[in-house]
Amino acid sequence: MPKNVHNTLIEAAIAVRKHAYAKYSQFLVGAGLLTDDGSIYVGCNVENVSYGLTNCAERSAVFAAVAAGQRRFSLLAIASAGGVTPCGACRQVLAEFAPELPILLIDVNQPGTIVEVNLRDLLPGAFGLPDPGKQKRSEVRGQRSGRGK
Ligand code: THU
Repeated sequence: MPKNVHNTLIEAAIAVRKHAYAKYSQFLVGAGLLTDDGSIYVGCNVENVSYGLTNCAERSAVFAAVAAGQRRFSLLAIASAGGVTPCGACRQVLAEFAPELPILLIDVNQPGTIVEVNLRDLLPGAFGLPDPGKQKRSEVRGQRSGRGK
């Protein structure tokens, strides 16, 4: 990957972090997602008074990219104080599209030292639906007619 693309992605993650709405935690996060065609989509965390409705920076970036018609991702950069790894929910959402996604962790207090990890190592045993062909016919019928266990 050209060095300038890499650097542009890192700068995008650091820049969008400034838009984070982190009223309750004060923990600002920015994410930049690079697609296979070289486009960059960004996201920040958006908190809510009903805490559980908070959206993380990483998922915000994925949703922006998907809404723009993109589904092939090649690199994610996350900027935070301390260079945190993505939360479990974001890992599963990222794995939907790119289970082997390389991720750059940027500590905004030490932006020169970037740690690279891979989603494959962060989320072993990701949830996936079993092959529908392997589900028992009777089970599928029961579900459809609303008859549960
Ligand atoms: N947060 C993210 O945006 N991404 C992460 O990877 C971890 C956590 C946000 C959620 C919440 O707004 C704040 O950081 C503190 O958890």
